[in-house]
Amino acid sequence: MSETHPVPARVSEGAVGPVKSLADWREVRQRSADDPDGFWLGVTKERLAWATEPTRGLDGSYHTIMDGPIAWFADGRLNITVSCLDRHAASQPDKVAILWEGDDPSEVKRITYRELHEEVSRAANALKALGLQKGERAIIYMGMVPEAAIAMLACARIGAIHSVVFGGFSAEALRDRVRDCGAEIVITQDEGLRGGKPIPLKAVTDQALEGERGVKKVLVYRRTGNFVGWTEGRDVWWQDIVPAQSADCPATIVDAEHPLFILYTSGSTGKPKGVVHTCGGYLTYASFTHATVFDLRPDDVYACVADVGWITGHSYIVYGPLANGCTTLMFESIPTHPDAGRYWDMVERHGITIFYTAPTAIRALAAKGDEHVTRYDRSSLRVLGTVGEPINPDAWRWYHSVVGEGRCNIVDTWWQTETGGIAISPVAPATPTKPGSATLPMPGIFPVLMDAEGRRMQGPGEGRLCIEFPWPGQARTVWGDHPRFVATYFEHYPGMYFTGDGCRRDADGYHWITGRVDDVINVSGHRMGTAEFESALVSVEAVAEAGVVGYPHPIKGQGVYAYIVLQDGYTAGDAIEAEMHAACRTLIGAHAKVDLFQFVPGLPKTRSGKVMRRILRKVAEGQPEALGDTSTLADPSVVEAIVAGAKV
Ligand code: PRX
Repeated sequence: MSETHPVPARVSEGAVGPVKSLADWREVRQRSADDPDGFWLGVTKERLAWATEPTRGLDGSYHTIMDGPIAWFADGRLNITVSCLDRHAASQPDKVAILWEGDDPSEVKRITYRELHEEVSRAANALKALGLQKGERAIIYMGMVPEAAIAMLACARIGAIHSVVFGGFSAEALRDRVRDCGAEIVITQDEGLRGGKPIPLKAVTDQALEGERGVKKVLVYRRTGNFVGWTEGRDVWWQDIVPAQSADCPATIVDAEHPLFILYTSGSTGKPKGVVHTCGGYLTYASFTHATVFDLRPDDVYACVADVGWITGHSYIVYGPLANGCTTLMFESIPTHPDAGRYWDMVERHGITIFYTAPTAIRALAAKGDEHVTRYDRSSLRVLGTVGEPINPDAWRWYHSVVGEGRCNIVDTWWQTETGGIAISPVAPATPTKPGSATLPMPGIFPVLMDAEGRRMQGPGEGRLCIEFPWPGQARTVWGDHPRFVATYFEHYPGMYFTGDGCRRDADGYHWITGRVDDVINVSGHRMGTAEFESALVSVEAVAEAGVVGYPHPIKGQGVYAYIVLQDGYTAGDAIEAEMHAACRTLIGAHAKVDLFQFVPGLPKTRSGKVMRRILRKVAEGQPEALGDTSTLADPSVVEAIVAGAKV
């Protein structure tokens, strides 16, 4: 029998969210199934401020998706910043919207809804003055300063489309994204600051833009004040242009399906995809799930310590929380700066009630010892969230009993860049939890497990996770490549969205995500394609071939294991490893680090030349006995060498 934790009384009592109990969850889900259009139209009219309210729910289906994207609320018109700013600036002007904590714990800023509304308006006017127009793209390459959120909202204010690129990405990766989306402007800062270390954001931007003609302007927020290179005519200091603008910027009203942002994410190929989210449906779903899962209450102090460079930062630091008029924390630093007590120090100082982080941070902090947690008062906490990768039961129990002292419900939220918001998760006041399970689907989400033969599974079992029916927060397309969107997500199982994840469903209908079934690895919650690593590695002259797979890692969730075949005449050694590390850093980013290299005489290939990745995975997982049939290999001796030299 599996371990089940009831909802603590402190979490269920006084619930105010759209789903207050398990009975509610059943009822709301049933409504979402019986009449999806009516259900979501009701949700969006209740939660968002529309300029023209929609009368239409869903247009299109997964069966017609090859002909064009689905649409939600197609006849509605809005500007999402009115929902996130104007109405709260009017009704609760002095409430703190963004509570910012800098790298140094003594640096705290509180930006009220009135101030945020004004600052976004100024920044939006500045973007207009720099020539950015509705529908054009802006790349945002920043650290965790409030201006990153302000820049996102300022783009949305004028109907421009933003694409935030995580500050760890390299110049090459940034350039690819600038080119792919055809950005007119890049918004960056002189340097980021994390754990006391400067991050050279402007210098990387300069390198990325060398020879690029498309980008007309670079708007630079001064964070550290250190010297940076400057291109006259192109570069503009944020501090020189934004404060001088009017604090009045009428919101540009757009169609519900106008793109809000593009966010690049890794898949099975070497080229990241620009996932497109649109205004009306995305914000409806981000707002609804944020209020539902966390049972958001008016006096909550809500802290999601992700980075705005990832979807979690978009949906659950910026858009969902601001749409819901809540106080949202932005955290510039890392969990171990100045020591491993930083998160809980913040909880005590700010009275945080909802705290949302990733399993990798939980595991890393658990390893540092309980005293870093217990020396702070965590009695304000009510809900503890996790996202980004499967959480192992031990880390879950530590979060539950040491951090939350058994008083909080844990919400293990499963979702993806493509889903736009949380899709499978406990609802804090409603759902009994099981350590390691993302539990039950949200209203409007209908998960299906498919077996190896492509048949729909009933009842308990393990298969590939698909979702059967569209929901408003779902990605609409891949920027500039709709056929790729269709091929990636809708061709495997006709009539369904394929998530790329494996999943087990137990007898209670609870979902247990088992990890990716495609060539995507998840390192410390960072999603990366094995093909991206492989193409970086083979760019090194000495490397003939590379095969990259994930393997279980106690802190990072997955580590990166690279099998390397050298060109003739080269010998394995530290110098080549250093070159390979440098190539990954340069072509992908500082977060893309190979953990283990194994030099091999060849990769296991079928007679038709296809690399048998299953073999590479099993060896990296330390299960060489489970290799299965290797008789179809072109050269079985390669496998013996791989097994003999395995690094785990
Ligand atoms: O494999 C799943 C894993 O992260 C993938 C999505 O990554 P990304 O688009 O970067 O978005 C991360 C933040 C939403 C999924 O396909 N994943 C995410 N959350 C969980 C998870 N795996 C298990 N449990 C989760 N709670």
